[in-house]
Amino acid sequence: IDSNKTPDARMQDICELLKAEIPHYDWVGFYFKNGDKRELKLGAYAGAPTDHTIIPYGKGICGQVAESNQNFVVPDVQAQDNYIACSITVKAEIVVPLFVNGENIGQIDIDSNTPDPFTKADETFLEFVNAEVAKIL
Ligand code: SME
Repeated sequence: IDSNKTPDARMQDICELLKAEIPHYDWVGFYFKNGDKRELKLGAYAGAPTDHTIIPYGKGICGQVAESNQNFVVPDVQAQDNYIACSITVKAEIVVPLFVNGENIGQIDIDSNTPDPFTKADETFLEFVNAEVAKIL
């Protein structure tokens, strides 16, 4: 990741790297809290374009993490009633909040086309990625 690039460009590179290098990461993106609007706005992402560029707090997995400030691992998206489908190929999802100075300012969101692929190692790894991203924001 090139430290001469802008934060947005570096987050784009991170998304593309994670998607390319980790077989069970099929869509990788960052959502950020949008001012005081109580909604998330899509930032950098790698994977298929999504209609869900704005997600209200409380809606879907992402919207719930905006309020809970906790990791959310979904082994089977079809078993979730508060879930926003982006693609019919997606089987599982993980969302990890991004903290800057202790404040939840957004999140990394990963979709997988593999059923139940996420382990504690993904959570630990994505917490590390977010901590690195927090340093450049
Ligand atoms: N599935 C997410 C919506 C975002 S897409 O996965 C890119 C959710 O339920 O919040």
